[in-house]
Formats: sequence, C-alpha cells, structure tokens
Amino acid sequence: MNSAMPAPLHNPVSPTSPVVAAAAAEAVKANVTHRVEAMRHTATVAREQRETVGNPRVENAQVSCSDINVFYGDAHAIKSVSLDLGQNEILAMIGPSGCGKSTFLRCMNRMNDTIDHCRVTGSIMLEGEDINRHDVDVVPLRARVGMVFQKPNPFPKSVWENVAFGPRIHRLATNKADLDEIVESSLRRAGLWDEVKDRLDKPGTGLSGGQQQRLCIARAIAVQPEVLLMDEPCSALDPISTARIEELMIELGKELTIAIVTHSMQQAARVSTRTAFFHLGDLIEIGSTKSIFSAPRHQLTEDYVTGVFG
Ligand SMILES: Nc1ncnc2c1ncn2[C@@H]1O[C@H](COP(=O)(O)OP(=O)(O)OP(=O)(O)O)[C@@H](O)[C@H]1O
Ligand SMILES: [Mg+2]
Repeated sequence: MNSAMPAPLHNPVSPTSPVVAAAAAEAVKANVTHRVEAMRHTATVAREQRETVGNPRVENAQVSCSDINVFYGDAHAIKSVSLDLGQNEILAMIGPSGCGKSTFLRCMNRMNDTIDHCRVTGSIMLEGEDINRHDVDVVPLRARVGMVFQKPNPFPKSVWENVAFGPRIHRLATNKADLDEIVESSLRRAGLWDEVKDRLDKPGTGLSGGQQQRLCIARAIAVQPEVLLMDEPCSALDPISTARIEELMIELGKELTIAIVTHSMQQAARVSTRTAFFHLGDLIEIGSTKSIFSAPRHQLTEDYVTGVFG
C-alpha cells in the first residue's frame, strides 16, 4: 500500500467491511440469477409442454367435463380442459392468478352464462345429463351444483330466511314446520346452529365474516346439492374461521362432491384428495394431492408448488 494513502478505518474482516459486503452482494446476485434462470426455464417449459400430465378421469365420476373451452370475447381463458369430479371427493384447483380456476369452476353450474361476452364449449355431464344443453334450466341446476364465493354474500334477509329461501323456491318443503327443520339441520351441518339459534330472525349480514361464510354454506346445502363449488372460500377469513370451514369441508365431503379453488398449498394439502394445477388456461397436471405436492411430474407444477413463481 502506498504509504501516502491513509490507513483504512475499517477492520477488513468486520461484518461491515467491503470484503463482506461484496460477498453478500455476490450471493444476492447469484440468487437473483438463479431465480431468473428458473423463471426462464419455466417460461420455456410453459410454451412447450401443454398436454395434461396425469389421469383427469376417475371411475365413479359425479361430474365429467370434456374438452371445455371458454372465451371472453376473443380471449381464450380455458383451453380444451377435460377432468372429472369423483363422487364424494374433494378436488383442489390451484394455479397462479389469472390461470382460469374461477372460470373453470363457474362452468360446472353455468355461472358463466351470466357474463355477456363469455362463451363456453364442450360437454359437462352431471349424472348422465349434459348441463350445457340449451334446454337445461339453470335454476335447479344451481341447486344441484351449489356455489360458495370468496366473499360471503348472505342475502339482506334474516338468518332463517337465508337458509329457507332455496328449499321454499325448490319446493323441498311447503309448510313452516318442515322449513324450520331444514333450516335447523342445515345450520347444524354448517356448524353454525349453536351460534345463531337465538338470532334466527336477525339479519344474516350482521354475523361475523366466518359466520356469514358458514351461513352461505348452510344456504347452499339446504337445497341438498350433489356438488359444492367453493371459490377461495377462506381467503377473507382469519385462521380460526378458516380451520372451521376446512373441518366443515372434510365433513361435507363424506356426502358431497366438492371442488375448491385455493391459493393456499397448505389448505389444498389439508382438505383435498386430488389436486388439479392450472396454468394460462391449460390443465397442466392432475393427480393425488400427495403426489402433486411431493412428486410433481411436470416442471411447471414443481416450480409452482415450490414457489419459483406464484
Ligand atoms: N368477466 C371477465 N371478462 C373478461 N375476462 C375475464 C373475465 N373473468 C376472467 N377473465 C379473464 O380470464 C382469465 C382467467 O380468469 P380467472 O378469474 O378465471 O382466473 P383465476 O385463476 O380464478 O385467478 P385468481 O386466482 O386471480 O382468482 C384471466 O385472464 C382473466 O383476466
Ligand atoms: Mg379466481
């Protein structure tokens, strides 16, 4: 070192020394480079391998979807997706935002019909009947295939009315005593009865978020659906309410077929038996939840479940 230069003020091995800082910067750069390379690789795979990996069919299908395409105007949101929902199974649908999970879920009870510029092609068989036929009445269909949304949406009516509404219009009961019985049994199955039995005449909208979501589940199951579609049902809820809804799903799954969209890998792993991974409108991989999370076969699935992209 030039003796004319001042001696360095720092200890060369202290954590704030330029040597340590440079090493840290190198490590960050290497990590960023690794992630960018992984994402580039993901993008290449995404372009190349779009065939579904895994068997989308099951032996005892409750719902059987074949070659489903959905367009919003010219935008192709779901691309030739085929998959079954097995009787009494809980299927998780996962994938990054915008990949088409909600769009696909809405196909199964024709909720996309309510969107003007949305066009759906392909067949969806429910107990041997194609629900996409023009002469299918969507009102009874949506009772058979119920839906629970991300944000609880009770009617601006009493707790009792929220649950009794469906059974009354579908004529499952005609007198007050029978309706009372359905309301109570549905609220019990939804794990809400003890919390609301003394406030059945109070507005459903006055309940807590978690209670409102269970009220919406009670409303959906009051009309004895065969299938329940749940679109991120816990994303607006705290962990305790989430745990209650998950318990409820597992309980209901013994009698119903459930398809749940979730952004939580932990939730998918806790509640579902089969998982479907979507990406940019394609069904990339489907299989047992265990295999999707512990031994994914498609690179995109692996990258998604390990958090390379989200
Ligand atoms: N009503 C609509 N009109 C036009 N395009 C739509 C409509 N709804 C969804 N899309 C488009 O269709 C594609 C799939 O959207 P979808 O809402 O099904 O995704 P998602 O997987 O449910 O996303 P997220 O996880 O954010 O809820 C997206 O590109 C979205 O912008
Ligand atoms: Mg969605």
